[in-house]
Amino acid sequence: IFIMKLLVILLFPGLITSCGGDSSYGLPPKLLLVSFDGFRADYLKNYDFPHLQNFIKEGVLVEHIKNVFITKTFPNHYSIVTGLYEESHGIVANSMYDEATKKHFSESNDKDPFWWNGAVPIWVTNELQENRSSAAAMWPGTDVSIHNTTPSYFMNYSHSVSFEERLSNITAWLSKSNPPVTFATLYWEEPDASGHKYGPEDKENMSRVLKEIDDLIGDLVQKLKMLGLWENLNVIITSDHGMTQCSEKRLIKLDPCIDHSNYSVIDLSPVAAILPKINVTEAYDRLKNCSPHMHVYLKEDIPNRFYYQHNNRIQPIILVAEEGWTIVLNASSSKLGDHGYDNSLPSMHPFLAAHGPAFHKGYKHSTISIVDIYPMMCHILGLKPHPNNGTFGHTKCLLVDQWCLKLPEAIGIVVGSLLALTILTGLIIIMQNRLSTTRPFSRLQLQDDDDDPLIG
Ligand SMILES: *[C@@H]1O[C@H](CO)[C@@H](O)[C@H](O)[C@H]1NC(C)=O
Ligand SMILES: *[C@@H]1O[C@H](CO)[C@@H](O)[C@H](O)[C@H]1NC(C)=O
Ligand SMILES: *[C@@H]1O[C@H](CO)[C@@H](O)[C@H](O)[C@H]1NC(C)=O
Ligand SMILES: *[C@@H]1O[C@H](CO)[C@@H](O)[C@H](O)[C@H]1NC(C)=O
Ligand SMILES: *[C@@H]1O[C@H](CO)[C@@H](O)[C@H](O)[C@H]1NC(C)=O
Ligand SMILES: *[C@@H]1O[C@H](CO)[C@@H](O)[C@H](O)[C@H]1NC(C)=O
Ligand SMILES: *[C@@H]1O[C@H](CO)[C@@H](O)[C@H](O)[C@H]1NC(C)=O
Ligand SMILES: *[C@@H]1O[C@H](CO)[C@@H](O)[C@H](O)[C@H]1NC(C)=O
Ligand SMILES: [Zn+2]
Repeated sequence: IFIMKLLVILLFPGLITSCGGDSSYGLPPKLLLVSFDGFRADYLKNYDFPHLQNFIKEGVLVEHIKNVFITKTFPNHYSIVTGLYEESHGIVANSMYDEATKKHFSESNDKDPFWWNGAVPIWVTNELQENRSSAAAMWPGTDVSIHNTTPSYFMNYSHSVSFEERLSNITAWLSKSNPPVTFATLYWEEPDASGHKYGPEDKENMSRVLKEIDDLIGDLVQKLKMLGLWENLNVIITSDHGMTQCSEKRLIKLDPCIDHSNYSVIDLSPVAAILPKINVTEAYDRLKNCSPHMHVYLKEDIPNRFYYQHNNRIQPIILVAEEGWTIVLNASSSKLGDHGYDNSLPSMHPFLAAHGPAFHKGYKHSTISIVDIYPMMCHILGLKPHPNNGTFGHTKCLLVDQWCLKLPEAIGIVVGSLLALTILTGLIIIMQNRLSTTRPFSRLQLQDDDDDPLIG
């Protein structure tokens, strides 16, 4: 029996490691999910991040995260924790209106579970597991009772709570709670706020802001090391969207095209949600030629690639501004940076970095979708994912307990096989030649054979 066990262990090492999923036996895996709002993917290339680069050196980096349309804060944060497109999780904008119930939603009026109950975020699933709890130092939805459940530990949203306090409280919860906190979130408003204010092309101001972000990442790592959490905790640092440069000179004014009494604006820029008070076709006709710098869609004609159509909270007409353009009614705009645009634009993409026992060390990956993060997090925590739009396979290369063929390896295998084949062929030819030299007449015979077709 001992020998059989040994054989099983030798033959199927994957079976055994995939059950544990964590190097520290007995302890359940833990995950801290961090978002720095509006962290555009290429900030990493264009600015210095010594602390973040150290974190990446010992972990993994995904250079681009393709996020979901519309590329706004609440919708994308909810896609990260549900793996769903916006039309499926129901948080389709930062400002919403539901015609059937006449309810309004905004960033400062977001606590009605009605808006959130279309999906089950990962902290709720984790909270319902025996002997596990969740904690949140803010993240859209974590202070709302979704499916009658909040994280065991959370903060009501307030932008005036410092990063230091959020960090200090979330790490205290991660280290001391019973049942243990196994999933935690940490949210910070920058560099989004400064990106809007200065515009991403203001190198001077943005490098100051981004250095502050990097210092916060340094504080995070130091704190986790000090508390002895660093080695066993999985940490994901990511964001909801990027940022692009706007200008006073790139305004799309609606007032000259359609009388403001003819419709309600549920959301304005860069994706306007229009609820007409007049015939929809008529409103559409007035808007469709309003500006060459925006697309005007009837709800039923919204491109499939946006996965942004099948929800009552999506209004009958949406206007999508071209990158860098701002939709206004008549006034001017003071924003120098914005996001919300087409999710295929690289400027709208955030990044993802991760460190911990679940992740490889020193591995770089080019791109995944924002909805792929959810099944990966469920895998790390050993949770059964709810139906979602992500693909676990897309993140296998990031994880130590998964087998994945990386591109360089694949090329290596192909080149290696070709080389081996060439050598083998060479050897066979040499052997044949050797053989032929030992048989004096074989060459002559071969030549005879070669001549045959010519004769025939
Ligand atoms: C939960 O914790 C209790 C007490 O520590 C233990 O007896 C029980 O087996 C645990 N349940 C699971 C599912 O781990
Ligand atoms: C959040 O705010 C509500 C109402 O304002 C309050 O009842 C609740 O205790 C607060 N929760 C926390 C965790 O601070
Ligand atoms: C953080 O923890 C401290 C100490 O327990 C507490 O006094 C404070 O209210 C907490 N902060 C927030 C925002 O919950
Ligand atoms: C940007 O930075 C420069 C110099 O650092 C400063 O003079 C300027 O006021 C800043 N811009 C804004 C909008 O604060
Ligand atoms: C729509 O706008 C026109 C002016 O263009 C106005 O005469 C009309 O009363 C408006 N209709 C409604 C329903 O507000
Ligand atoms: C809206 O107007 C179009 C023509 O402009 C007409 O065909 C359609 O029936 C109208 N729809 C409604 C609901 O009145
Ligand atoms: C701009 O539009 C608003 C809302 O329709 C209106 O109250 C305001 O008077 C308009 N301003 C100008 C300068 O037209
Ligand atoms: C996304 O996932 C949900 C839940 O499984 C499903 O209902 C929906 O059809 C999916 N969307 C797409 C475009 O596949
Ligand atoms: Zn945001």
